[in-house]
Amino acid sequence: AKYSWVDKDTCIACGACGATAPDIYDYDDEGLAEVIYDGDGNHGVKAIAEDLYDDLQDACDGCPTDSIKIADEPFNR
Ligand code: F3S
Repeated sequence: AKYSWVDKDTCIACGACGATAPDIYDYDDEGLAEVIYDGDGNHGVKAIAEDLYDDLQDACDGCPTDSIKIADEPFNR
């Protein structure tokens, strides 16, 4: 399984991830990205569906500040 969260301390609200993977990433009131998939709340604990893995990787690769974190295990945060 794959899990993801966004480090808002380094996100510069560039807007790329939500455009690339709108089912996974959206933005808060300040335009900073967060994982909204399956009500994750940017905790990185919801297993992302396999059919979204390409979007997930593309968003991660496209983030200019490497703020998108991905792992095979749930994050504990
Ligand atoms: Fe922020 Fe990177 Fe997305 S800078 S808006 S997490 S592509």
